[in-house]
Amino acid sequence: MSDAFKRQAAEAAADAVDSGMVLGLGHGSTAIFALRHIARRLAGGELHDVRGVPCSRAVERDALELGIPLTTFDSHPLLDLTIDGADEVGPDLHLIKGGGGALLREKIVAQASRRVVIVADETKCSPALGSRAPVPVEVLPFAWAALRPWLEALGARPVLRTDGGAPFVTDQNNWIVDCRVGPLSDPAAFAARLSDRAGIVGHGLFLGIADEVVVAGEYGVRRLTRPQSSSQEEGG
Ligand code: A5P
Repeated sequence: MSDAFKRQAAEAAADAVDSGMVLGLGHGSTAIFALRHIARRLAGGELHDVRGVPCSRAVERDALELGIPLTTFDSHPLLDLTIDGADEVGPDLHLIKGGGGALLREKIVAQASRRVVIVADETKCSPALGSRAPVPVEVLPFAWAALRPWLEALGARPVLRTDGGAPFVTDQNNWIVDCRVGPLSDPAAFAARLSDRAGIVGHGLFLGIADEVVVAGEYGVRRLTRPQSSSQEEGG
């Protein structure tokens, strides 16, 4: 059922794509539904002149297979709209991202976008960031052994992400450390500590980046905008 909700949320967001837009193309099992919907709209002639900057090499391959034209920041340093998924949606549309390992490019693409729309099924919503998902932290392999005790001292439980027994390697040839932190009372303070530490090249706390979150669940599709109290029901 969760796949059906992911699809509903992603397609509702992808319906807002207009001809001529330059898009940030998000990574993950929810964002792929948006990518496919955009491809269908392009193939059907409903959309034209749409180009995208992919958030990962995997999305680049998917977009090429689906026939979505790609571009780069060299040609388009400012994007119109990014549609991407999230691992956790907390209060004020603060997010945890990076479950798919693409957090660094996702944040670069989101911060280069005029508008960021996040798509998610209802299981991703939480009352306090950190209660549901670990915070992924992208680190230089050189730094990992030194960062582990430092992260523990911050109160995190860091686990090096692996893939087939070896460290998971990002598109930038770095490693990911998944940090269980529990509900964060001050996500901005935690994010600032991570950002300040040499050897950490990115983290999955996306604070103040999303403009809208489209959430689908049993009750239909809801569009959450900041402040979170201003949510609109769209369907039953
Ligand atoms: C990729 O690195 C992530 O940030 C994804 O956007 C996030 O993990 C959500 O993925 P799913 O849509 O597959 O749950």
